[in-house]
Amino acid sequence: MVTERDFKEFMADVCTPVAVVTAMADGLPHGTTVGSLTSLSLRPPMVTVALEHRSRLLPKILRAERFGVNLLGYGQAGVAAAFASPATDRFDEVDWCLDNGLPRLREAPGWLVCRLQRYVAGGDHLLLLGLVVHVSGARTGAPLVYGRRTFGTHSAFTQGNTRSITDHIAAFAH
Ligand SMILES: Cc1cc2nc3c(=O)[nH]c(=O)nc-3n(C[C@H](O)[C@H](O)[C@H](O)COP(=O)(O)O)c2cc1C
Repeated sequence: MVTERDFKEFMADVCTPVAVVTAMADGLPHGTTVGSLTSLSLRPPMVTVALEHRSRLLPKILRAERFGVNLLGYGQAGVAAAFASPATDRFDEVDWCLDNGLPRLREAPGWLVCRLQRYVAGGDHLLLLGLVVHVSGARTGAPLVYGRRTFGTHSAFTQGNTRSITDHIAAFAH
């Protein structure tokens, strides 16, 4: 028997990226904080995002069949909290624009435009499979990371130790 508490405690230790997924509906921007952004495929480039059935953003994405992904940087915990709150005026406090017809947060370091290819029900969430049709992101600064119910970043960025995994593997091979 798996209790909700045990499962939540386990998953609290799984660190995630933090992104604000967006869509336009009736001329208005909508956005929700997610930790479920995952790379799915390289050829073609695809990502997945899981949204709860009750999410107000979900029907808007299903209708538009496209969504934007704003990858947040370290220092944007306030933005993540605002887009996870019940507030409906989430965009009032951020600088945003339309990019490919989708709401883009100007301060977010990473940006994807996705076409909804299909979706799969999984328990109380819907897994959205998005084909990436546009990508941009300057590698400036550290990413925002969520773990143990706390916002932070990858420690390597704060320690200036950003040797890539390919260098580690190459060193191991010799
Ligand atoms: C760090 C973090 C990650 C989250 N990840 C998700 C997620 O992957 N999927 C989801 O449906 N909700 C997630 N949430 C909760 C939503 O952001 C929150 O329920 C939001 O109010 C839903 O807004 P909406 O109803 O406008 O879609 C997350 C919240 C936080 C703080």
